[in-house]
Amino acid sequence: MDTERLYSEYVNTSFVKGIEPVVVDHALGATIHGADGEEYVDLFAGISVVNAGHSNPKIIAAAKAQLERVVHAASYIYHVPLVAQLARRLAQITPGRLQKTFFGNSGAEAVEGAMRLAKAYTGRGEFIALQASFHGRTSATLSVTGNAARKTHGGPYLPGVAFAPAPNPYRCRFCTGCCTLACADAVEDVFKYQTSGDVAAFIAEPVMGEGGIIVPHPGYFRRVKQVLDAHDVLFVADEVQSGFGRTGAMFAIEHYGVEPDIIAMAKGIANGFPLGAFIAPPEITDSFRPGEHLSTVGGNPVACAASLATIEVLHDDRLVERSAELGAWCKSRLEEMARQHEIIGDVRGVGLMIGIELVLDCATKQPAAAEAATVRRLCREQCVLLGVGGQDGNVVRIQPPLVIERAQLERALDVLDDALRSVAETRSVGAS
Ligand SMILES: Cc1ncc(COP(=O)(O)O)c(C=O)c1O
Repeated sequence: MDTERLYSEYVNTSFVKGIEPVVVDHALGATIHGADGEEYVDLFAGISVVNAGHSNPKIIAAAKAQLERVVHAASYIYHVPLVAQLARRLAQITPGRLQKTFFGNSGAEAVEGAMRLAKAYTGRGEFIALQASFHGRTSATLSVTGNAARKTHGGPYLPGVAFAPAPNPYRCRFCTGCCTLACADAVEDVFKYQTSGDVAAFIAEPVMGEGGIIVPHPGYFRRVKQVLDAHDVLFVADEVQSGFGRTGAMFAIEHYGVEPDIIAMAKGIANGFPLGAFIAPPEITDSFRPGEHLSTVGGNPVACAASLATIEVLHDDRLVERSAELGAWCKSRLEEMARQHEIIGDVRGVGLMIGIELVLDCATKQPAAAEAATVRRLCREQCVLLGVGGQDGNVVRIQPPLVIERAQLERALDVLDDALRSVAETRSVGAS
């Protein structure tokens, strides 16, 4: 039986309506080789995961070497050297006083663990999150996710979660023209009107991924942190998607000059090996009492070996800087395209975490979701794979492996340009 048929009969794929008709054979760098012999340019990196490139030889070698030694040894019962080495490395590359790491297996597990730690440390149980946010698909992480479409059939959710407005400059409900950071000030109103004063933490993605690559104003988190400090409330930065060089900094919160109390991470941490983690200063971390938190295969030695190698590759190959440089070039090329395509309402992003919001009308900003899906299909037919997301499904996402060659990216953007032109032509034929 062929793979697509096996999928439809046996695999529970609930996420994408009609999984993409691409059968992956193998992948290298920013290229996915299909079973059909086609070579696809990968602009989505397995949903922003393989930052150091598919099948990176140094990472594969490190994981293979570890496979030969020990695959699993219960890293929370016995001492596993790699776990300690990786934890120290994470303390070195994360901002401020963040020092001690808990390892799990996924982004959702990292965020949920961070929430539990915030509760343990503060002795309080409420959370403030952002509208349009996404934090995972467990019950607790969906509770702090501000997107109804992602929450269907999962409720009722945890009580004690309040949502502040998304800091979305393109669709700001507060300011016309000059930003006054009113969306950050609105966090104070959330404390005042929507909580019982028992808030453990504010949780936010420094750059919002699934919500449509929303980049808050440079002053946003500093202003929010002032509000949080006044209430003695922790700041949990969810860097699951924005971490590990994706935005041209090791962690996106660095762009804001703010030190979070806890960072949750996953995805790019081990370049595709399953690993999630959260890190905090010792006085916060140590509020877990013995026996309170554990993950059986969390801190798996093979994933930790891959993670250590990933961090070395990001450094040695200057991939964080590359993300910043290539991202700036890519964004300016897209801005140029936006001047030619009326359907592009907004181009935004940092580093190689870029969103192109498609709208039916630049004045009303009505989301062009069907058109975004068509753009994705047309690009795929020309062997370019990209993501589509956003609250309304109208944001084209460019988040390639950071190793992508500039020529590859240029070719992919030419394909995107053609796809946007073709969508515009179809619309104008439909309208006449
Ligand atoms: C910001 C953010 N947090 C958490 C998650 C959940 O990660 P995972 O799918 O590894 O559980 C995601 C996944 O897209 C994410 O983007």
